[in-house]
Amino acid sequence: MYYSDEVIEEVRSKNDIVDVISGYVKLQKKGRDYFGLCPFHNEKSPSFSVSRLKQMYYCFGCGAGGNVFTFLMEYENYSFFEALKFLADRAGVELPQQEYSKEARERADTKAILLEINKAAARYYYAQLKSERGSQALAYLKNRELSGDTIKAFGLGYSNKYSDDLYQYLRGKGYSADMISKAGLISVDERQGAYDKFWNRVMFPIMDANSRVIGFGGRVMGDGKPKYLNSPETMIFDKSRNLYGLHRARSSKRPYFLLCEGYMDVISLHQAGFTNAVASLGTALTPGHASLIKRYVREVYLTYDSDEAGTKAALRAVPILKDVGITAKVIRMDPYKDPDEFIKNLGADAFEERIQKARNGFMFSLEVLERSYDLNAPEGKTDFMREAARRLTEFDEEIERNNYIEAVASAYHVGYEDLRKLVSRVAVQTGQAQPAKRPKTADVHAKEKEDGMQKSQKILLTWLIEDEEVFRQIGQYITPADFSGDLYRTVAALLYEQYAEGQVNPAKIMNHFTDEEEHREVASLFHTKIRELTTQGEQEKALKETLIRVKNHSIDEAVKSLDPMDMKGLQLLMNAKRELKDLQKLHISINKG
Ligand code: UTP
Ligand code: MN
Repeated sequence: MYYSDEVIEEVRSKNDIVDVISGYVKLQKKGRDYFGLCPFHNEKSPSFSVSRLKQMYYCFGCGAGGNVFTFLMEYENYSFFEALKFLADRAGVELPQQEYSKEARERADTKAILLEINKAAARYYYAQLKSERGSQALAYLKNRELSGDTIKAFGLGYSNKYSDDLYQYLRGKGYSADMISKAGLISVDERQGAYDKFWNRVMFPIMDANSRVIGFGGRVMGDGKPKYLNSPETMIFDKSRNLYGLHRARSSKRPYFLLCEGYMDVISLHQAGFTNAVASLGTALTPGHASLIKRYVREVYLTYDSDEAGTKAALRAVPILKDVGITAKVIRMDPYKDPDEFIKNLGADAFEERIQKARNGFMFSLEVLERSYDLNAPEGKTDFMREAARRLTEFDEEIERNNYIEAVASAYHVGYEDLRKLVSRVAVQTGQAQPAKRPKTADVHAKEKEDGMQKSQKILLTWLIEDEEVFRQIGQYITPADFSGDLYRTVAALLYEQYAEGQVNPAKIMNHFTDEEEHREVASLFHTKIRELTTQGEQEKALKETLIRVKNHSIDEAVKSLDPMDMKGLQLLMNAKRELKDLQKLHISINKG
């Protein structure tokens, strides 16, 4: 899909960012900008700012930021195109029709029909539950202590005892047997014809992040087998990319998810106020789940069953989460089997305590490992520590590894230095990792320097955007090419273009990027100030120093990559160096305010 820059800008400019965000966050005007509590992280005092002038938002606490498109991408988890459509609708802008290929259109149409069928089925099951025929199922749910509100919130239902009445109902609504079968709701038998897949079960509709029904789980009311029957995977139901409860958990205020095993666990937790609970759909956690989770939170508390299978599943989940950058902690459910039973017996406060006491995923894996060694025998303890050291080598980052070495040393009462040496030795032996060497420190310094330069460039860009006077005075000394990396250069080039055209419009610059991470980065380019400075003189001095630092760096980089035979290039660089000297004498005056 592709829309022209003009259309995108039209949609953006017709949706004032303060108006749009006010629909989600309570904003208060302070000076030129609006402030409120950041919807993207937990905070008590407002550091989330929205600027009508720049048509951008930025959180000084967590760094979230962007234009009106980014906001919806982050808040609603829309893709760029979904955000565009939403805002076009809001402002009454008609988007040009897209040209689809015949196959693409057919696929899209089929998907839309399957979603409709699933929604109709969910409504039907819900109505059945509330009817005379559903009384036993309703009693079953009440017996499991689910309230009417919970049943409604999760859209629970009942598939009755007639073998094909959902099928007949859906046919009556005009859906073809082929489509109903593609939705996974019927089986077709040569002799019997079509019959419903779910029969006399309590129904759990499975919804995607946008609350669209994509499949079902159906539980027997008693001890029959299988306990749960699930929809097969279909064009709209991919078990490894969806999580039960996500449509509600995504808007929970807590900065982490509770990841559990079962539908009933999720429902019990939500009912007890833990609206950040999700579960995988009867399958083990996959990398697909992990990246889905990462769209919402950076931390996961595993609340798997306390039996051996649950422990194993937790051990497998920890590295999968770690791989995408999510920290995992493990909550103990004992003496109960799962969160549902735990909550029923001990209540929400006790569960909250368990959350507080959750163990770090790595330490949990060591506790499980302990069980295979006799830690009271010297030999057993040595073997155990060696295996622990081997696992410690798997942390690539030195700081993180050292933190864990410290934690393990203190938990198992061994000396920190001893353990560190053991880890290095094991790393060398297994050839997995090199022990920390001197060049590593050099790398760290280089990285720090790089970060400092980025900060200077951000500060400069923010100044150039906010103060036209500054641009007028220094725009001639610094060019987009003086910035490092594609992103900074593109942003600078667009800004220079806008000045040339006589109108600065930061939010429009953002239209050139469609990725959330890029938006965040670009937003920070527009919001970096040296906060400690107070007087105008100090600020002017800092601006000049920043300008010189950025220019200097640019010349240095150019020298590094200069071909020694390139006489003209050399000449240009010498000129640049001379100009840099002149810059030292330049007096820059800034606009106060
Ligand atoms: P559990 O057996 O722990 O079920 O399976 P549960 O959710 O706690 O349900 P109750 O409390 O016994 O009613 C965990 C999950 O594994 C999948 C389901 O997703 C279930 O929620 N499962 C389990 C199946 O898909 N089929 C089965 O036969 C059993
Ligand atoms: Mn259970």
